[in-house]
Amino acid sequence: MTRYIAAPGGRLVGDIRVPGDKSISHRSIILGSIAAGVTKISGFLEGQDALATIDAFRAMGVVIDGPDAGVVMVHGVGMRGLKSPARNIDCGNAGTAMRLLTGLLAGQVFDCTLTGDSSLRQRPMRRVATPLGGMGANIETATAGCPPLHIYSVAQLTAIDYTLPVASAQVKSAMLLAGLYANGHTCITEPTPTRDHTERMLAAFGYSVTRRDNQICVTGGGKLQAIDIDVPADISSAAFFLVGASIAPGSDVTLRHVGVNPTRTGIIDILRLMGADITLFNAGEAGGEPTADIRVRGRRLHGVTIPVGLVPSAIDEFPAIFIAAANAEGETVLTGAEELRVKESDRIQVMADGLHALGVQAEPTADGMRIVGGLYGGGEIDSYGDHRIAMAFSMAALRASGAVTIRDCANVATSFPGFAGLARHCGLTIHTE
Ligand code: S3P
Repeated sequence: MTRYIAAPGGRLVGDIRVPGDKSISHRSIILGSIAAGVTKISGFLEGQDALATIDAFRAMGVVIDGPDAGVVMVHGVGMRGLKSPARNIDCGNAGTAMRLLTGLLAGQVFDCTLTGDSSLRQRPMRRVATPLGGMGANIETATAGCPPLHIYSVAQLTAIDYTLPVASAQVKSAMLLAGLYANGHTCITEPTPTRDHTERMLAAFGYSVTRRDNQICVTGGGKLQAIDIDVPADISSAAFFLVGASIAPGSDVTLRHVGVNPTRTGIIDILRLMGADITLFNAGEAGGEPTADIRVRGRRLHGVTIPVGLVPSAIDEFPAIFIAAANAEGETVLTGAEELRVKESDRIQVMADGLHALGVQAEPTADGMRIVGGLYGGGEIDSYGDHRIAMAFSMAALRASGAVTIRDCANVATSFPGFAGLARHCGLTIHTE
């Protein structure tokens, strides 16, 4: 059982690049595999989640070289070239891999089974299985709609016009991937915009995607042509440094080449509402995704009521945002974020328990949290194997009056290999046991 022990105090200073974007890394393997030609990916996230996606496609006969210093070569097999895997596909801890693969595999001519680790086997999959069933897919879930998923081959999927009941990029993406194999025009309407990496990347691979207001449509039967993809640094990993540097006086961190797709920048908007000092510069573009360098300096934060409209664009960043709230003057209130209860852990309950262990006043609610900022102590936190909980509480140590010990941290390697080393390089006194 890996533990982090973070000593209290300090500040963060550095000029760093965090690992590649997880969402984009998954999609680059998926689309590269079904494209014609060789897709060269650089800046790929060499974390366990994205590696699970590589393994899945290798099991389906795709030759994939690397990753080698972030470079991966995917020898695409074309739209109909995937082979029946000889074994069950293990998605590990990766909900994105499982949900996107379910959509892609629903339209293949072979049966297969998707499974995952104990956390993933407790996550809801009916949100993809049910609408895919509406396209004619034959998918069986285990009890309560959880994995393993058995996906049976069907003759032909039928296009669907579907309105997402929850704002979910994974469900949207699964439906669009199935739509590539469906007869006709598949249209997905989302209640609030969610990350649009699938749409952007499909277009970059030469597949026509139409978007109007909150509706995204694809027509089945097209082809993808291999491209080169430069994966930007993951804003969800940068988030821990944005929060750590914001809360620790005297901090000054520059994060290079970060993906700043507007469907992902809720963390910047929320921290700025709290008074944070964050500047974006060197704006650029990588593979159809906007990028920027981000400088963040320590500044006194104040509590806010988080606008509900910002929730989808910050959905993975709430563990870090709760730590910012614990260090802000006054009260921070989050609502409209019930999805946090079905992430890698129940992030509302697990964060509330951890904040209480440090002596922070925090009241979990069905769909969010109320946190009153102030001084807090050290203590022992259980991350429940959730990478983002572990990294968020590591940053909390910067302002704690005692050491923060975090249990069950091995899964940090799913999204941010080298986190503790990079945090130490910037000034956090953290070691792994
Ligand atoms: C992701 C979508 C989000 C996010 C997850 C990655 C994606 O999940 O939480 O970490 O890559 O599409 P939901 O679609 O369930 O909101």
